Amino acid sequence: MTRLSVNINKVALLRNSRGGNNPDLIQVAKDCERFGAQGITVHPRPDERHVRYSDLAPLKAVVSTEFNVEGYPSQKFMDTVLEVKPHQVTLVPDKPQQLTSDHGWDTLDEADFLREIVGELKRAGIRVSLFIDPALSMIEAAAKTDADRIELYTEGYAANYTQNAEKALAPYIKAAELAHELGLGVNAGHDLNLENLAYLKQHLPHVDEVSIGHALISDALYFGLENVIPMYLRKLE
Ligand code: PXP
Repeated sequence: MTRLSVNINKVALLRNSRGGNNPDLIQVAKDCERFGAQGITVHPRPDERHVRYSDLAPLKAVVSTEFNVEGYPSQKFMDTVLEVKPHQVTLVPDKPQQLTSDHGWDTLDEADFLREIVGELKRAGIRVSLFIDPALSMIEAAAKTDADRIELYTEGYAANYTQNAEKALAPYIKAAELAHELGLGVNAGHDLNLENLAYLKQHLPHVDEVSIGHALISDALYFGLENVIPMYLRKLE
């Protein structure tokens, strides 16, 4: 089974644009679960333009499926997640002003740093996933950091899907197989949508979870969250 974790950062962005509490992020998280989401993901960034660090504790209190917090392990990020203790932390090598994540970790260059951070999170009982490009050397080195999972950065697949889906997915299949062999769980995310999700689900082995934000929230403008979450779930059947 591949779980659908709904990334609600874009809901927070909409809320922040007016300074009030509409839409109410906490209510949206509860409703996403009510409509079938099997996890809730947020990605606090240093400028807090999407979800804020202060949103994390109230979200943890209501999320009854799986709460996944993504981000760069700055001191502020680490202090917050160690206090809130989400079920999973996905470490991402983002620069502070980055619009969205656009590459995975260099797990060879950053091996010592990652091993230390992964250890700290795991000692707090948090599952740790590393955002990774589908490169076999990066996956081998990811396993050595003692992370529990990798999240495959699927932008490359999504960008090339319409041209040649088989070719676009090929490196991800090798990556997922190697990760599985090395004892790592496999998540996937970025630019997944109603068009490219079913092919990924049918052909990419061992995927524990996909996290989807931008496309799903955009689709909700037309279909409504209540309809759109089951539409994504059907692609994962
Ligand atoms: N995974 C990671 C690490 C991300 O940073 C993001 C975007 O915040 C996603 C998944 C979700 O990507 P998208 O919004 O394109 O679905």
